[in-house]
Amino acid sequence: MKSIYFISIFLSGLIFSIPCQSQTTIAVETATYAIVLQADKENMLSTVYCGNKLEAAADYTGIAEISRYPQGNAGIYNNAYTPAGTWNLSEPALQVTHADGNTSLDLKYVSHLTTKPDANTSITEITLQDPVYKLTVQLFYKTWNKENVIEQWTEISNKEQGPVILQKYASANLYFTNKDFYLTSFQGEYLKELQPMEEKLLQGTRTIDSKLGTRAMLLGSPNFMVSFGGPAKENSGTVMLGQLAWSGNFKLDFEVDSYKNLRLITGINPYQAAYTLQPGKSFKTPSLIYTLSNTGTGEASRQLHTWARKYRLLDGQGERLTLLNNWEATYFDFDENKLSGLFKDAKKLGVDMFLLDDGWFGNKYPRNNDNAGLGDWQENVKKLPHGIGYLVKEAKAAGVKFGIWIEPEMVNPKSDLYEKHLDWVIRQPQRPEKYYRNQLVLDLSNPEVQNFVFGIIDDLFTKNPELAFIKWDCNAVIYNAYSAWLNKNKIPQTHLYTEYVKGLYIVLERIRAKYPKVPMMLCSGGGGRADYEILKYFTEFWPSDNTEPVERIFLQWDYSYFFPSIAIDCHVTDWGKQPIKFRVDVASMGKLGFDIVAAKLSENDLAFCQQAIKNYNGFKDIVWHGNQYRLLSPYENPAAAIEYVSEDKTTAILFSYLHSNRFVINATERPIQLKGLDAAKKYAVKEINLYPGAKSTLEEGKIYTGDFLMNVGLNPDVNYGRTSVIIQINEVVK
Ligand code: DGJ
Repeated sequence: MKSIYFISIFLSGLIFSIPCQSQTTIAVETATYAIVLQADKENMLSTVYCGNKLEAAADYTGIAEISRYPQGNAGIYNNAYTPAGTWNLSEPALQVTHADGNTSLDLKYVSHLTTKPDANTSITEITLQDPVYKLTVQLFYKTWNKENVIEQWTEISNKEQGPVILQKYASANLYFTNKDFYLTSFQGEYLKELQPMEEKLLQGTRTIDSKLGTRAMLLGSPNFMVSFGGPAKENSGTVMLGQLAWSGNFKLDFEVDSYKNLRLITGINPYQAAYTLQPGKSFKTPSLIYTLSNTGTGEASRQLHTWARKYRLLDGQGERLTLLNNWEATYFDFDENKLSGLFKDAKKLGVDMFLLDDGWFGNKYPRNNDNAGLGDWQENVKKLPHGIGYLVKEAKAAGVKFGIWIEPEMVNPKSDLYEKHLDWVIRQPQRPEKYYRNQLVLDLSNPEVQNFVFGIIDDLFTKNPELAFIKWDCNAVIYNAYSAWLNKNKIPQTHLYTEYVKGLYIVLERIRAKYPKVPMMLCSGGGGRADYEILKYFTEFWPSDNTEPVERIFLQWDYSYFFPSIAIDCHVTDWGKQPIKFRVDVASMGKLGFDIVAAKLSENDLAFCQQAIKNYNGFKDIVWHGNQYRLLSPYENPAAAIEYVSEDKTTAILFSYLHSNRFVINATERPIQLKGLDAAKKYAVKEINLYPGAKSTLEEGKIYTGDFLMNVGLNPDVNYGRTSVIIQINEVVK
């Protein structure tokens, strides 16, 4: 393989005139997996293998001939990046209109190059070229060896004389053979985000997509799971967990072809998104990020969690702030006095920070409800006569940090901003406006709007350097997609969806260049807006406005397939009928916050919360940075259990709940087998987060071997009288 590699680099500029090597084999490997691509005699590049890594790399060369898939009516299904308009007739990865109006495309292998930026990472770059038109495609495969994570993206370069229109421009085009395929997709709705749905993929195409523009994952998610050979299981079987890392419209096509193999093509949704690429320019697609595991979804998630914390999520290995938020405690009804009282409540509770939510701004159109004021980011002088700076100081004096809510991508028609800058608003000028939560979206394709949005945050930090946290909300979808700026600059309107997201990333890049570490929460009225591109800039996200704790057990379970707990904000609120202990315990499985009227807590509830926050501070390091094990699924049992284990296996924490009491007296008759401990170590177990006056039914400090806990198990004794039980498991050192 190596000789071909060197020759192809050497020849790369001359490739038009010199015939290429036949049978070039390219293996993209992680610790356990390999994706193997091969160029045939005619330099057509195909995916010939996606499976366990082989001991001898030389063995990869023989894979294609063993399979013998004939070219069929649809061309070649396993093309590495299927071109449209010539003889490949299955779902394309790339469809273009050339500068001369021709719509045919063929792509031939030219060269490849693998580099290793560090011991754990490799980047393989494969160059393809249309033999007739000067259009070049580079396929990128970045791997993180230990974590078995692969990131794939594509760059398309126009070297023609005139503009090329990209009609469809996928990020990745994968091919899996030999198995039955089960897809778990995640469908959503406001308050019902990320609901899993598993189906067997049959011949034909199953598409998951979004056309919402902003908060694009509200109704369908760019996260997915493919299980090979049977439905997905937690501790066995081969699975892939994947995500299109793009904060806008996406399309995931799962096509089972006529050989019953799976073609997977993912990328920006081509819906109203034809992109004109000027000569000399390149387009970089978003990334498909995925991991594979042979031992089920548990390991796959842990791989993704470790990868995300180390390499993607902002400050993924750092600390987070517990907080008291005032949204559900006050809504828009507050003033300086009330807030000063809440700072004291936050301190009394024992959290790190107070987070001021919506309603602090707008003067001509005060933000006293969600009808007005959005876009006018000046303190409301009636509510806050002394400004934010005063609040930051007051909070500090009370002993807590201060954070603030913004929704910088949006505008209410009842605002100064709308009146002054109608051309900054996404709207069809000749049609009636259509609102979602009484608001419209600002046109982030416009650099002036990008400056404005950057300015909101910059201004807040410049005036208040001690501001500790930003909650970045986003509550509307894009209706009536039209940009006055694109129109003025003679850029096609079909660029809007894509340029919006790119504009958002430009702003976030600028923010992080100036304010690299300030924690920021990504929120979208629930909506689950989070992906591994935007999480480069955010420390955490708000998965749903639904904080009913039983619902949260399910929701947090589902988010945990893709995101580590340190990234998931979980607030204790007054939703639901569960006692405070249950609510706090559930929220303690993520980044803990409160959104309650703390002053109204009964004496015992307050004492419980105070102790629970102290306990959380004791074990948060394992929840945030440890390995997570989903032990008992709420979908299959009346009880649910999740365990976190520290990297060095010296300490663990078990969360267990009774979430359904239909015919259940004792939900854990059988012990729960723990995972991830050291069989040879001895551990003492202790129930924590007991409500004042409650006694544990477990023997405090009882010692078990890791061997016992993992094979026989531990019984948290979850029952109708003990619906929520947290157990700490600490190594006993003699
Ligand atoms: C939606 C968020 O999810 C809530 O937490 C709150 O911030 C409101 N927006 C404020 O308008």
